[in-house]
Amino acid sequence: MKYDFDKKTDRTGTGSVKWDFAGDALPMWVADMDFESFPGIKEAVLKRAGHGIYGYTYAEKEWGDAYANWWRTRHSFDFDPKRLVFVTGIVPVISSAVRKLTTVGENVLIQTPVYPVFFNSILNNGRTVVENKLLYDSETGLFSIDWDDLEKKLSDPQTTLMVLCNPQNPTGNIWDRETLSRIGELCEKNGVCVVSDEIHCDITAPGKEYVPFLSASETNRRIGVACISPTKTFNIAGVQTAAFLALDPKLHHKVWRQVNTDEVAEGNCFSYDAAIAAFTPEGAEWLDELREYLWDNRRFAEEFIRNDISVLKTVPSDASYLMWVDCSGITDDSNRLVDDLKKKAKVFFNPGADFGGCGNSFIRINLACPREMLKEALDRLKSGIESVSNER
Ligand SMILES: Cc1ncc(COP(=O)(O)O)c(C=O)c1O
Repeated sequence: MKYDFDKKTDRTGTGSVKWDFAGDALPMWVADMDFESFPGIKEAVLKRAGHGIYGYTYAEKEWGDAYANWWRTRHSFDFDPKRLVFVTGIVPVISSAVRKLTTVGENVLIQTPVYPVFFNSILNNGRTVVENKLLYDSETGLFSIDWDDLEKKLSDPQTTLMVLCNPQNPTGNIWDRETLSRIGELCEKNGVCVVSDEIHCDITAPGKEYVPFLSASETNRRIGVACISPTKTFNIAGVQTAAFLALDPKLHHKVWRQVNTDEVAEGNCFSYDAAIAAFTPEGAEWLDELREYLWDNRRFAEEFIRNDISVLKTVPSDASYLMWVDCSGITDDSNRLVDDLKKKAKVFFNPGADFGGCGNSFIRINLACPREMLKEALDRLKSGIESVSNER
């Protein structure tokens, strides 16, 4: 391996949400990685910082080309970079789309359990959350779509938008082409637009590929808005750099107007250069090594939990560095479990309750850290679960 993902980097004093909010516990929660990002990005940021003038900047042609080349080469999806619009983050554009594509009181459909901030983007704007709960098979650990329920909820005239998570956080499902086009057909039939959050799309198991929602069918191209970015993949969430892509001119215009109205369509002077440096052949090489390391971490954690904490069950996953863990053998109150583990074992996870659906009996573990830290976290999880079990 050319890159050293075992290397530990001290994050104290950097205002790290992940570390500082966990206090004295080992932080295995919020989705950023304890690896330094791809060195090409650091070089680009340092080069820009070295210039000494940090005036207003805009997305030059190289920025859109970098995205388009990446999606063409890595995801076999060709699009016109002119259809891409810079935004400061995925959450800002989801919230803008909710404001523009729905009215107050209308329903926005999400498939739960899902990234908790989807709820905020909908509720904070006075819209109603409609959950199409994913079906969970506790034998196989697999999650799948409840199509009858989806169709019923999309056919409600109050439902005007669906926010899709592709690939899915926290279950790690990669939706295949057929599934994506079936979702598109059902949505178009019911006059529902789709915002597809694809932030986790590059972190897939070695050999596995995600399918861009917009590439799945002509229908999807008409009704979909894709939200994409290098931030999860390259661990640069703090740079705040993302984009939305809409191929239908009218839909593109609408969301473009709204992100401008909301003032989230202009980056800082590092945000464009960071993305351009990420989406390169060298960035791809770093990413492929990262994926190998992450899936070794995942296999390690799966085996550890199977052998040493058998009351818990891991959900098999093809995407993201997040692991969804079934704790129903011990609790249906994930908030309490997470609190107890933090206090008793000094390790901190996301409570599944925040994700809706069946989340109450799950926790989410962030696997993106040096293996030594993961081992320590799993040891703490084991002793925490033992102590919780003894008390109940
Ligand atoms: C599915 C999903 N969407 C969006 C985000 C956050 O995106 P941003 O920081 O660009 O707003 C996350 C972060 O964990 C996520 O998991």
